[in-house]
Amino acid sequence: MENKINEIKKAFLSELEACCDLKSLENVKNKYLSRNSEFNNLKKGLKDLPNEQKPIIGALLNKISNELNELVNKKNDFFYKKELDEKLKKEKIDVTLDGDYIPTGHVHPLTQTINEITTIFEHLGFSLIKPQYSPEVEVEKYNFDLLNFPKEHPAKDMQDTFYCENASNVILRSQTSNAQVRQMMNSKPPIKIISPGRVYRNEAVSARKNNLFHQIEGLYVDKGVTMAQLKGVLNEFIRLYFGSSRPTRFRSSYFPFTEPSVEIDVQCIMCKGEGCPTCSGTGWLEILGAGMVDPNVLKGVEINPDIYSGFAFGMGVERLTMLKYAIDDIRLFFNNDVRFLKQF
Ligand code: PHE
Repeated sequence: MENKINEIKKAFLSELEACCDLKSLENVKNKYLSRNSEFNNLKKGLKDLPNEQKPIIGALLNKISNELNELVNKKNDFFYKKELDEKLKKEKIDVTLDGDYIPTGHVHPLTQTINEITTIFEHLGFSLIKPQYSPEVEVEKYNFDLLNFPKEHPAKDMQDTFYCENASNVILRSQTSNAQVRQMMNSKPPIKIISPGRVYRNEAVSARKNNLFHQIEGLYVDKGVTMAQLKGVLNEFIRLYFGSSRPTRFRSSYFPFTEPSVEIDVQCIMCKGEGCPTCSGTGWLEILGAGMVDPNVLKGVEINPDIYSGFAFGMGVERLTMLKYAIDDIRLFFNNDVRFLKQF
């Protein structure tokens, strides 16, 4: 028995010596150390040996088996490292090569403008309105009546409104000013909010007009709020948004919910003088509607106009984006042509 074991060991050692890679090593391992190997069959035969030989041969088989396993493992480590080194040498990585281009999306230019303007007003102490106070699907009461639009008054025609077919007082809001009313009904002064969102008007679509667009509404109500403060806040906004002070012009105007009302113009950003396509040669661009909240509106939401006053303003997001980036067609924002969008 001992001779047989030594014979196997000898044969194993010479075959191990001849191994030149992981694959041939694996073959040797299978031949000598697997379940069906000759060596293992000897272990299975232990039970048939005379009792006094069992412990001696058993111990010898274990010893040799451990030895052989250890030799295989050592060789295995050696070949593994060798093959890895060769592979690494062959597959050199050129770190100067350009990486693969992974296309990424980005925020839509209108959303960028909304974010930018919101941030400016947050710096000026305004908070973003809760979305439930600024719904897009609205009832007439909040879009018109409580904003001091007289019932059946042609003033409602100022904003061609989409009405719901089977619920005649339900509309798509025509302005973000509905947010003023809902905010004032649900909180007490001081109120200082801005409300960005979509609005809808039944307009013929053209380069200048779309029937869906975005506005940002602002409202400040407290004791002693003045027109001078309105002017200061909006001039500061214009300075921060356009990047430098630019002359502004406050023209008197009319909105049912503000008194006095103004429209604010900035000096044309890219004026080409007479016949300028941006400002039609006037030198000025209208960018905002604003005014002091009409006492009737305050009364309607149970805020005492003898104690409190406020100002409100509203601006078109598309218009402000078009002016900043010299875009001449509002429809570009809605066509989703990536050649346009990816420029921002
Ligand atoms: N809601 C007005 C519009 O859409 C703009 C505005 C807002 C004017 C707030 C004054 C105060 O034309």
